Amino acid sequence: MAAEAKQTCYEGSSVQSFRFFLEHSGEHQAILQRVHDILPGEFKRIGAGKSSLDFLGVGSGGGELDVQMLTLLQSIFPAVPITADTVEGSSQLTDNFKALVAKTTNLQKIPFCWHIMKCEDYEKQVKAKGDMKKFDFIHMIQMIYYVDNLSTTIKFYHSLLKNNGRLMIINEAANGGWDILWKTYKKELCVDAITEYRSSGEILACLKSQGLKYEEHVIPNTFDITECFNPSSQTGQRLLNFMTATDNFYQSFTPEIRAGILDLLRNKCSTEKDGRVLFNSNLSCILVYA
Ligand SMILES: C[S@@+](CC[C@H](N)C(=O)[O-])C[C@H]1O[C@@H](n2cnc3c(N)ncnc32)[C@H](O)[C@@H]1O
Repeated sequence: MAAEAKQTCYEGSSVQSFRFFLEHSGEHQAILQRVHDILPGEFKRIGAGKSSLDFLGVGSGGGELDVQMLTLLQSIFPAVPITADTVEGSSQLTDNFKALVAKTTNLQKIPFCWHIMKCEDYEKQVKAKGDMKKFDFIHMIQMIYYVDNLSTTIKFYHSLLKNNGRLMIINEAANGGWDILWKTYKKELCVDAITEYRSSGEILACLKSQGLKYEEHVIPNTFDITECFNPSSQTGQRLLNFMTATDNFYQSFTPEIRAGILDLLRNKCSTEKDGRVLFNSNLSCILVYA
């Protein structure tokens, strides 16, 4: 019997859980702050002398970051026509993205192409058709944990870059809080949508093995997980659910495993400041050259 495809794309409760996490983690703000330092120079290099620019988001989610990056690209090249494609398997999050585009006045001139499918299926589709649209800028932000095969995915999306293009991968940093948590509790956590946890360490090793040229920038971030240590806190429970990719942290693990995870979170993944426990949520921004 064929193995059932694992469900990695966010719908229903995972959309709620992700939204809750975004509200509490400051992750988008941290990414945007850093990306606004890095991307203006990159976009100028990518777009120099080009008469059109093609942008692709892979696993764009609700598109909050895409809208900001497209706005930046447009502000740097106001006279150059831009197209935007997105490959995202969640129809619910793609609806959010569409709604966000609809209310962003400056994006009305950009034609969007919505590929509501897993990035592996997009790959199969373009290979079957034989005509691959190429892109100047492709991003994969916080989504590489979910792809079936890291190496073939990077190879394929890198092959879609146009001359002078960049593939931007943003992922949890090697040796950060997520990396420590997910590798220490691999047996308990890597059982569902994520079967192989990947931090920036695995991505850099993959880029090196493919001989690709890249540069790496740290995106510093921490968020407050103090509430996770109060078992009657709803906020704490919801954060723990997202961080362990479960629907219910308290029902998913034995008391021993829960105690071990909480101890690790406090003592190995976080720092304490003014009585608050701050989880190390550093990210890594990797720019891969065409
Ligand atoms: C953690 S969210 C990140 C969303 C967005 N990039 C952001 O940073 O706000 C992961 C996203 O990847 C999408 N996803 C998961 N597996 C995927 C796959 N195989 N192909 C395309 N998208 C996928 C999910 O639906 C979700 O929107």
